[in-house]
Amino acid sequence: MKRFSIAVIPGDGIGREVVPAALNVLDTAASAHGGIAFDYTEFPWSCEYYLEHGEMMPEDGLEQLKKFDAILLGAVGNPQLVPDHVSLWGLLINIRRGFQQSINIRPAKYFEGLRSPLADPKQFDFIVVRENSEGEYSEVGGRIHQGSSQIAIQNSIFTRPGVENALRYGFELAKGRKGHVTSATKSNGIVHTMPFWDEVFADVKADYPEIEAESTHIDALAAFFVTKPEAFDVVVASNLFGDILTDIGGAVMGSIGIAPAANINLSGEFPSMFEPVHGSAPDIVGKHIANPIGQIWTAKMMLDHLGETELGAGILSAVEEVTKNGVKTPDIGGSATTEEVTAAICEQLKK
Ligand code: NAD
Ligand code: IPM
Ligand code: MN
Repeated sequence: MKRFSIAVIPGDGIGREVVPAALNVLDTAASAHGGIAFDYTEFPWSCEYYLEHGEMMPEDGLEQLKKFDAILLGAVGNPQLVPDHVSLWGLLINIRRGFQQSINIRPAKYFEGLRSPLADPKQFDFIVVRENSEGEYSEVGGRIHQGSSQIAIQNSIFTRPGVENALRYGFELAKGRKGHVTSATKSNGIVHTMPFWDEVFADVKADYPEIEAESTHIDALAAFFVTKPEAFDVVVASNLFGDILTDIGGAVMGSIGIAPAANINLSGEFPSMFEPVHGSAPDIVGKHIANPIGQIWTAKMMLDHLGETELGAGILSAVEEVTKNGVKTPDIGGSATTEEVTAAICEQLKK
């Protein structure tokens, strides 16, 4: 029996509703397949934990997580209890940075039964590779309050290794896909960082003559994600651009509740972390209507990372089949609950 040890952090809000759904699906898939089992260790780190302990995770939290094969996270954030900049920096970003998860992979694809807001959605299937450790999300900056003047400053930091890492990852990924890379830029704007990003892009591109690659301004790219998502294969973007683009990716599929993500530690020195694109959705918490597909697809990405690609593929096919059969939460046009969708996916896996 092959066993994987998984650290589970449901977090806040609907994270606590969709994580159990994903664990249920993982266990069902593993027992239907045979020979694989998961050992889960749950960590209660969340905004409620913060209220009790004064911190989002214990000081030795990363040490505790280090020994696991992977981390499955729901969502972090309950702005009514704890300001977002405290909860996110204290848990989510802490793990991404502490474990050098420098790449965030976020796929989006159309499948039958989804309710895309696009009038005539084509068979799009793209992956955004988001630089995940620097860029616009730098730790440099702050607020200056002098007399009546109030100023907030944020310095973007783009390093040659950071940018190159993300772009190279994108080109490598494209080799096994349609062989097309789009680099998200804003070099026409008055930012200093993007002409630099473009220079690195040109250098990396030169190493991959077999890949068709182009650079597109982020503003136009955001529009193209809506008007022609089928034109894209691999899209490489900076931290903030990638963040925004991937909510659009979710939206054109039908709901950000579907969109999965993986924070990858490339060296293998630390565990990678798997969390959907969406957040804790305080507006729907407790209503049993959270779409579990984002978290379930995220668990599938975790299986791919652990080398269990067959098991992962089975999960995604089951999700597609159930969606096609109309067992869907309201965000994608159905009337099923989180639990009903999860049960239907599990039933499908047992067939
Ligand atoms: P959100 O993604 O939580 O919600 C945006 C909208 O999408 C809401 O209307 C919500 O109901 C809907 N939605 C999200 N997931 C859904 C699902 N699975 N099924 C159905 N509908 C879904 O974004 P927000 O409202 O901007 O943020 C809420 C909180 O989550 C904030 O504290 C924010 O910082 C945090 N957040 C955390 C993460 C993370 O931990 N990875 C990601 C994004 C936002
Ligand atoms: C995401 C989220 C986070 C991000 C926030 C909550 C810090 O929006 O994972 O997409 O911007 O990275
Ligand atoms: Mn986001």
